[in-house]
Order: sequence, then structure tokens, then C-alpha cells
Amino acid sequence: MKFFVDTAEIAEIRELQDTGLLDGVTTNPSLVKKSGRDFLEVVKEIAGVVKGPVSAEVVATDYDGMMREAAVLRKLADNIAVKVPLTIDGLKACKALSGDGAVVNVTLCFTANQALLAAKAGAYFISPFVGRVDDTGWNGMELIRDIVQIYKNYSFSTQILAASLRHSNHVIDSAKAGAHVGTMPFKVLDALFNHPLTDKGLDQFLKDYAKAFQDAPAAR
Ligand code: E4P
Repeated sequence: MKFFVDTAEIAEIRELQDTGLLDGVTTNPSLVKKSGRDFLEVVKEIAGVVKGPVSAEVVATDYDGMMREAAVLRKLADNIAVKVPLTIDGLKACKALSGDGAVVNVTLCFTANQALLAAKAGAYFISPFVGRVDDTGWNGMELIRDIVQIYKNYSFSTQILAASLRHSNHVIDSAKAGAHVGTMPFKVLDALFNHPLTDKGLDQFLKDYAKAFQDAPAAR
């Protein structure tokens, strides 16, 4: 499973990039607004930091406008994934852009039927929003499982990008369901590295070593 971070904060991206385990970045207009930075400037900077796909979203709602914005975004860097909303115009833009070789991430997906349409429109990524489905009282992970099954049935190559992941169990369940990618906020991704028993165990090992030996093995 690939790990994307869902943020427009460059410091967070650099920190995760240093681990060598970050596969890409997703942004959305709300996240860019939160960063307080200029939209194109911050997207370009992010795309220069990570090798993998960096999703940048169009804000036009009509086909022509989306195509114009997509052209600007694609010029920023080779690893830009153009994010379009799951609307009729968004899917029309997805089809045209994908046909032209762009990587398209279809966002704001809330049903398996929408995911089916995005795959038919040639989307490279489909982004079902797990957390936001959960917020409505439905089961976001059921949506991921349905899409995995449907895409398998018809051998669609569209990658399932489980989005709006809010906690570690969302990540485990998306991986179990077979999502290709999970995108999550920095704090969720950072938490995947940690467990209190790892810290406790390490602390004990270091204490026992220090009691028995003077130097670290490398220092001998
Ligand atoms: C994904 O591309 C979206 O930006 C994101 O996952 C939305 O998450 P949220 O529902 O926590 O805002």
C-alpha cells in the first residue's frame, strides 16, 4: 500500500520525505487555504520535494474552466496529478485529460457507482472519502470494499486512493480491503510509526545494555 500525506504544509512533507516512506501528497483547496500560501507557489514547491504524485485540485466547476486550470497545474511539474471533482463536468475533464496523458485524481467520491463512472472516464486515481462517509453514519470502509470488488470484476486499472482517513484503524482496514493508496493527515501517518510498547521495550533494552556494558558496540 502506498502512503500519501494529505497536507499543504511543506515542513510536514519534508519530515515525512526524510523517512523514505512517503509515496505522494494530496492537497485540496481547504488545505492550501490553511497553509496561508499562494496556491500555485505551494503546489510547485511540494512537487519539487516529493518524487511521487502531488494532487492539486481545480476550482472551476465547468469543463472548459477545469481544462484551463488543469493546463496551468500540469505546467508546474511532471508529477502533478490533476484533481477534479466527481461531477459530470469533472468526469468529462477526466476523460479528456487522461486521454492526453495526464494523471487524474477524481475526488469527492461517496458511492461505488461514482467510482465506476470515474474508472470508465479513465481516472488514474479515485478518491473515496472514508471519514466523511463515516461522519454521515454510513460505513466508509464498506465503500472501499465495494469499489475494490467492482474494479476487480472488470479489471479496471484505476487506483483506489482511500481518502479522508482519520485514524490508524482506517489505514489498517483500507489495506485489508485492498486499497492501492491511503492518504491521511500528518498526525495519522506519523502515528503509524509509534507504539507505547515499542518505546517501553526499547527503554528497557537500553537500560539493561547500559548496566552490563560501558560503550555502544559501534564505539568499540
Ligand atoms: C483527499 O484528497 C482529501 O483531501 C482528504 O482526504 C479529505 O479529508 P477530510 O475529510 O479529513 O477533510
